[in-house]
Amino acid sequence: MSPPVFAASTRTPEQRAFQVCVSCHSTDPGNTDTPGPNLAGVIGRPIAAVPGYDYTSAMKAFAKTNGKWTAALIEQFVQDPLKLVPGTRMEPPPGVDNEALRKLVLQYLEKGAN
Ligand code: HEC
Repeated sequence: MSPPVFAASTRTPEQRAFQVCVSCHSTDPGNTDTPGPNLAGVIGRPIAAVPGYDYTSAMKAFAKTNGKWTAALIEQFVQDPLKLVPGTRMEPPPGVDNEALRKLVLQYLEKGAN
């Protein structure tokens, strides 16, 4: 008998997609121990607004002209960070050229982050 496939992972597709971001970001509001800023509640949040996080001057300048993160803006950013924010420290995460993966990541940020 083969082992049951459902035991392979208890993660949702959204959580799995977000794995391409977790080396640098957390959505646990208390976690400040990551190279990138905390992403809890990032959709609708002002850009470059995590207290104490050392954003690049490029990201701070971008915040002045763009205000808040929308889902659409985040999707553009992860697809090609340097194109949207020239001079940002964030590099394109692996796999984000895949639209389906980007949509799952955004869904994760919409419901998983608090
Ligand atoms: C290799 C590390 C790394 C990976 C992987 C990464 N990021 Fe980032 N991210 C950063 C860094 C560093 C910054 C800060 C950039 C700056 O200040 O210029 C950042 C900034 C951001 C911001 C702006 C946050 C704010 O407070 O304004 C968003 C949104 C973001 N990342 C989303 C993502 C998403 C979604 C993924 C996965 C698809 C991802 N990142 C993967 C390193 C990373």
